[in-house]
Amino acid sequence: MKKHRLHILSVLSIIFLASCTVKQTSPHQKHAINSEVLSLPKDLSLLLTLEMQAINQGMMNLVPAIASADWQKIAEIGDQIKGSYIMHNRLTKQQQKTLHHVLPMEFKVLDQKFHQLAGMLTHSAEMQKPELVNFYFYKLNEACGQCHSRYASNKFPGFLSPYSSEHLH
Ligand code: HEC
Repeated sequence: MKKHRLHILSVLSIIFLASCTVKQTSPHQKHAINSEVLSLPKDLSLLLTLEMQAINQGMMNLVPAIASADWQKIAEIGDQIKGSYIMHNRLTKQQQKTLHHVLPMEFKVLDQKFHQLAGMLTHSAEMQKPELVNFYFYKLNEACGQCHSRYASNKFPGFLSPYSSEHLH
């Protein structure tokens, strides 16, 4: 009888522990921890928004360029996207310094990766390789979501859905 009660107790505690674990690793909570908003000074925030709009336009122009094998155009857009990288573009020395301090390390890593992918897209277009061009177009799209889900979920609340960010990290 005593043994039986002990057994029930341990089963109960296992259920309790299991429910704690499930709660801790629920995708929603995980995402909430992983998501933050950049606090940039106004001038830098405006530059970032302008840069994003330019990148967005570049991505849209890539669709017809890729579909028509316009290698020169693809390479040109890849170069533009690479060159519009905010930390390499139009910033005063002081703004560069501020940005360096304000941006989290992980943001810089994501941005750098994005920058490299744009370079790879240009390179693939110069080699006139359609599969590679499509691959890097896909990788660039993936990189937008990776950074937005982490640093721009206030602007793109779709990433706050518990399941949408699961495959991005
Ligand atoms: C390394 C991070 C990062 C990458 C990579 C990135 N973005 Fe962004 N993006 C941001 C942040 C942060 C914001 C919100 C900041 C803001 O606009 O105020 C943003 C905002 C935007 C906006 C909204 C601009 C507006 O008018 O409000 C667009 C559009 C956008 N991004 C497009 C893209 C596209 C398309 C890609 C990929 C080809 C991309 N971004 C890649 C960080 C990134």
